[in-house]
Amino acid sequence: MSSLGIGVIGAGIMGADHALNLHRFVRGAEVSRVSDLDHDRATALTDQIAGAKPTADPVALVHDDAVDAVLIASADATHAALVQECLAARKPVLCEKPLAPTAEECRGLAEAERAAVGEGVPLVSVGFMRRFDPGYTEMRDRLRSGAVGTPVLVHCVSRGLAAPNATSELSITGSAVHEFDTVPWLLGSPITAVSWHAPRSVTPRGTLQDPQVLLLHSADGVLTTVEVFLNAGYGYDIRCELVGTQGTVSLAEPVRTVVDTHLARGTAYAADWRPRFADAYRLQLQAWVDATLAGTPTPLATADEGWRATLVAETAIAAMHAGDGRAVAVPTRPAVAP
Ligand SMILES: NC(=O)c1ccc[n+]([C@@H]2O[C@H](COP(=O)([O-])OP(=O)(O)OC[C@H]3O[C@@H](n4cnc5c(N)ncnc54)[C@H](O)[C@@H]3O)[C@@H](O)[C@H]2O)c1
Repeated sequence: MSSLGIGVIGAGIMGADHALNLHRFVRGAEVSRVSDLDHDRATALTDQIAGAKPTADPVALVHDDAVDAVLIASADATHAALVQECLAARKPVLCEKPLAPTAEECRGLAEAERAAVGEGVPLVSVGFMRRFDPGYTEMRDRLRSGAVGTPVLVHCVSRGLAAPNATSELSITGSAVHEFDTVPWLLGSPITAVSWHAPRSVTPRGTLQDPQVLLLHSADGVLTTVEVFLNAGYGYDIRCELVGTQGTVSLAEPVRTVVDTHLARGTAYAADWRPRFADAYRLQLQAWVDATLAGTPTPLATADEGWRATLVAETAIAAMHAGDGRAVAVPTRPAVAP
C-alpha cells in the first residue's frame, strides 16, 4: 500500500484540524471519508479536500472499502463504541484523547484489541500529541542524557484563555489528562497516587472550580505539581519544568517574533492549543501514517497507556470529591488476558 485511505469521524475543531493537516502536510495520507452528526459540517470539510466524501453514518465509514484507517475526533463519550467498531473491522485507529471517559471502557478496549490481534501489531493509537512536541521531546532527551541528573520534581502548568462552561471534572478529563500521559512518558515511571487542592475560584458557579492544583506521586519518588487554570484570561500557556539533582530543564514558550514598543518588550500567546501544538499534531499524524503503512507498531500512546491516563483521571476526580486534600492511590490495572 503506497497511500493510506483515512476516514475521519468528527468534523469539529480537532477533526477539521487533523483532516486538513493530513490532506496538506502528511505524506502517504489520503482523507477519503468524513463523518459528523452535523452533515453540513462534514460537507464543509470534504469541500476543501479533493477526493474526500461525506458519510452520514460513522459506523458505515469504518467499514467503507475506501477507509484503511480511522481517525476519531468526535465527542469523548463516542470514543469507546467507535474504537470497538474499528477493532471489529480490524482497522488501525487513531483516537483523540481520552481513549474513553471511564477506565472500565478503556479496559474493554484493551481486551478487545488483545482479542483482535493477540501479540501482533496493535491497532489502537491515542492522540496524546505532546509526545511529538519538539519542546517535550527535547526535554525528555536531555533528562535521558543525564544533563540535569536524577529527576526529583516536575512543575506543570496548563492555562487557557476562557472556558466558562467547563466543569471541575472536565478540567481533569479534558485538560489535566494530558499531564497524566506526559509525566509517566517523561519520567519512565507510572503515577501511583494523586491529591487535589483548590484555591479560591475565579468562577462564580459551583460547577467549575478554577484553578485546580494536583500533586502527582510517581513510582520512582518524583513529585509533580499540576496547575490547571482554564479561565486564566490572558492566553493558552503550557509550561513544564523538570528539576533534577544537577539542574533543571524547562519548556521555552515557542515564539517567532518579539515586539519592542512603548518602553516594553512582548511576545504573543496563542488563543488555543492548535497553534501551540501545530508541530506536534503534524508530527504525530506523520508518525501514525508512516507506521501504519509499514505495518509496524506506531510510536503513539497505546491503548494500555490511554487506559492508564484515564485511570489517573478517575483517581484525581475521586480525590476532588473526597475534598480532604489527601493522596488517593491509583488502582493497579489488571493484566489483560493473553
Ligand atoms: N489532543 C488535543 O490537544 C485535543 C484538543 C481538543 C480536543 N481534543 C479531543 O478531540 C475530540 C473532539 O474535540 P473538539 O474540540 O473537536 O470538539 P467539537 O465539539 O468541536 O467537535 C466534535 C464533533 O464531533 C461530532 N460528533 C459527535 N458525536 C458524533 C458521532 N457519534 N459521530 C460523528 N460525529 C460526532 C460533533 O457533531 C462535532 O462536530 C474530543 O475527544 C476532545 O477531547 C483533543
